Amino acid sequence: MKPGLFITFEGIDGAGKSTHISALASAFQAAGKNVTLTREPGGTPLAEKLRVMVLNDAMDSLSESLLIFAARRDHLNAVILPALARGDVVLCDRFTDATFAYQGSGRGFDLRILQTLERWVQASADNTFVQPHLTVWFDLNPAEAAKRLAGARLPDRFEAQPVEFFTRVAQGYADRQQADPNRFAQIEAAQSVERVWQDVLGVFIRKGWLP
Ligand code: TMP
Repeated sequence: MKPGLFITFEGIDGAGKSTHISALASAFQAAGKNVTLTREPGGTPLAEKLRVMVLNDAMDSLSESLLIFAARRDHLNAVILPALARGDVVLCDRFTDATFAYQGSGRGFDLRILQTLERWVQASADNTFVQPHLTVWFDLNPAEAAKRLAGARLPDRFEAQPVEFFTRVAQGYADRQQADPNRFAQIEAAQSVERVWQDVLGVFIRKGWLP
């Protein structure tokens, strides 16, 4: 692993991660760190084009998974790995856990194919496997998330899914956490924004990454 910190943020749509990602970026900057704030699918010109397709165009689950991993490869090479090599704190809104949760559990796509793609795409030039140092999982009941999303902007191909889809996605996140518990910090996202923020901040303070 490179000298920087690679932190990802996950949760079903409506779990409320965005506010806290921005607040964490400010907290790290105030502590004198260089922050690279980015997202998936996206984060590079190519990956942002792929994002528009994935969120809007009809396609099967294999095409969807391949486009997402193609976007990820470009994003890793052009943004994430160079930032980690500089020693930046990389805050990335979603990463591969989202693919296992949405494409794997949500869509029911073959987890073994996703595991193969994960190994290919997350191999760096010196052949080390790139994984986040920490994944902050905003855990929210799918019915509550649906209430929060109701009446929001025009839904994309994922936001338009029924609550049962998000129940499967949430289970997908729980499975990923169970497979690698030390990487995950689970946040109870049903609380007030202020309480959620205190919990998020607490994780980083306990790790010694923020004062
Ligand atoms: P966002 O709204 O949090 O930016 O995420 C975009 C959507 O893309 C969200 O509904 C989750 C979905 N997504 C996947 O289905 N698979 C993935 O691997 C990623 C990163 C996102």
